[in-house]
Amino acid sequence: MKLTLVSPHERYRESVLRGLRELRDEGLPWHVSVDLTAIERDFAAFVANKLADVKSVIPATHLWAIADEHFVGRLSIRHALNDALRIEGGHIGYDTVPSFRGLGVATEMLGQALPIARTLGLTSVLLTCNDTNARSIRVIERNGGVLIDTKLLAPNRPLKRYYEIDVA
Ligand SMILES: CC(C)(COP(=O)(O)OP(=O)(O)OC[C@H]1O[C@@H](n2cnc3c(N)ncnc32)[C@H](O)[C@@H]1OP(=O)(O)O)[C@@H](O)C(=O)NCCC(=O)NCCS
Repeated sequence: MKLTLVSPHERYRESVLRGLRELRDEGLPWHVSVDLTAIERDFAAFVANKLADVKSVIPATHLWAIADEHFVGRLSIRHALNDALRIEGGHIGYDTVPSFRGLGVATEMLGQALPIARTLGLTSVLLTCNDTNARSIRVIERNGGVLIDTKLLAPNRPLKRYYEIDVA
């Protein structure tokens, strides 16, 4: 699949709304809280907020993966870490829209994000991932991720894996 990482833009409105709906319906905690009605009502503001995050306390670059004009995934690069992100979240987070999974989207997104992280001044990136998330583990390891630590954050949660990828 030929995929491009692009900055959020209004031209992808319909496809992004479809993808966000799919992600929300899947029930992942960081998607169920998304107010899709508000996004639909003012998509321009949603895009503007995403772009403005480069100026937030922990600056982040949000990117959309577009294949054949379809929104197939999203990825965020945090330019720095705070204590919370060091425990969970790391520098880079991503999701593939459910109907586009298993096609190499996340592997390609992360691969394309690494040189961008370097242009942001990072020399290595931290990725965190649940030990139960075999797909994401594969995505990280295929992109050169080296397992540096594992931690049990809470007794009722899966072991957290910590990976580092050298981007220098
Ligand atoms: C994890 C996620 C991003 C993977 O996205 P994707 O676009 O389907 O990933 P890819 O197609 O690039 O690669 C998936 C890899 O996992 C492998 N895989 C698929 N199902 C698997 C399974 N049950 N067990 C082990 N590996 C599996 C695939 O074979 C592929 O590896 P390969 O390229 O060597 O064949 C996607 O499942 C997702 O969005 N999940 C919910 C959000 C999430 O977990 N985000 C990451 C948080 S760390």
